[in-house]
Amino acid sequence: MGIKITGVGHYVPDFIVTNDDLAKIVDTSDDWITQRTGIKRRRIATGELAYQMGAKAAKEALKDAGQSIDDIDMILVSTITPDCFTPSIACLIGNELGTKTAVAMDLNAACSGYIYAMDIARNFLETGAYRNILIVSTEIISRVIDYSDRTTCVLFGDGAGATVVTRSNGIYSSSLGGNPSGAYKLFAKMKHHKNPWSLAQENYEMDKVNDFSYGHISMEGEEIFKFAALTLPKVVQSVLKQANLTLDELDLLVPHQANIRILQAANRRLKLPEEKLYVGIEDYGNISSACIPLGLWHLKKEGKLKNHDKICIAGFGAGLTYGAIVFEW
Ligand code: ACO
Repeated sequence: MGIKITGVGHYVPDFIVTNDDLAKIVDTSDDWITQRTGIKRRRIATGELAYQMGAKAAKEALKDAGQSIDDIDMILVSTITPDCFTPSIACLIGNELGTKTAVAMDLNAACSGYIYAMDIARNFLETGAYRNILIVSTEIISRVIDYSDRTTCVLFGDGAGATVVTRSNGIYSSSLGGNPSGAYKLFAKMKHHKNPWSLAQENYEMDKVNDFSYGHISMEGEEIFKFAALTLPKVVQSVLKQANLTLDELDLLVPHQANIRILQAANRRLKLPEEKLYVGIEDYGNISSACIPLGLWHLKKEGKLKNHDKICIAGFGAGLTYGAIVFEW
C-alpha cells in the first residue's frame, strides 16, 4: 500500500532576520554564514505560538486537499519546540480546527520528525481504520537558541508545514533508523521544577549533562556535519534499493535542510543532477522537522510536482535519528 499527499500547507512568520541583522548581535558576517551554511535569512516568530503556526499550515493543507477537518481521523504533529508539556500540540491544533473526534498526538524525532510521522501515518492508514491523516510539523527553534552563541544562532529559523495523507496504490518504501549513542551530540536541556525532596539533592543529573545553559541547543557541529553527510546518501540509496528504483528513475530528492555543504557532500556520492535536488535553505535556515513539508509546499506552488513523480524525502537530526521514504506524488 502506498500513500498519497492530497494537500500541502505552510506558515512562516512575517519577521525576517538576515545574516547582517545577526552580525549586529554576535561576532559573525554575511560572508561567513553564506559560505559555511548557504543561509541568507530566516523567519523568526515574534509572538505566535507553535500550535497557531501549525493550525494555519493545516488549514491551508485541508483547503488544498479539498477536505474539511471532519474528513481527518488522526492529527500527527512533529515538533521539538512544543508550547506546553500537555496537552499535545496536535490537540491544540485539533481544537483550533474544530474536530471533536480525531485521534491527536505529537512525536519528537527532531529533524527526522516529518519522515517518522509519515511512516507512522502510513502504518495507521494500512490498518484500514483511518482514511485521512493530517501531519503537521511546526517549529519555533528560536525558542531554544542562545542568541549570544554564534555557532548555533545563525543556523536555525521558525516555520510550519502540513500535509494531508491518504491511501493509494502507488509505490512506497521507507527506511528509518536511529543511533542513540549520539544522543548528547545535539542537546537542549529542559528546565524542571524541583520537588520538595529533590531540592535537597546537590547532584541534579541534568546539571551534569553539559555546561550549557538550560533551554538552549548545544551541538557538536562538526560531528553532526559528518553524521549527516554520511547518513543522507546511505539512507537514500537504501530506500531506493528497497523500492527497486535507480537514482535515474527518481524525479526528486527533498532532504532536510541543515546546511548547503551537507547537501553538496551527500550529492557528491549520489550524483543527482542539480534540478533533482531540492535546496531551500537560503530563505529559511534549518527549521527542523518543518523543512521537508515546507519544501513540498514550495515545489507544489511552483508547479514542480507532477502526478506519479517518484519522490524521496530524507531527514537526519538530533537523537541521532534518520530516515528516508520513497513515494509517488
Ligand atoms: N561566524 C563566524 N565564525 C564562526 C561562526 C559564525 N557564525 N561559527 C563558528 N565560527 C568560527 C569558529 O569559532 C571557528 O573559529 P576558530 O577556527 O577560531 O576556532 C571557525 O569559525 C570554524 O569553525 P568550524 O566549527 O570548524 O566551522 P564549520 O565550517 O565546521 O561550520 C557549522 C560550523 C556551520 C556549525 C557546521 O559544522 C555545521 O553545519 N554542522 C552541522 C550543524 C547542523 O546542521 N546541525 C543541525 C543538524 S540536525 C538538526 O537539524 C537538528
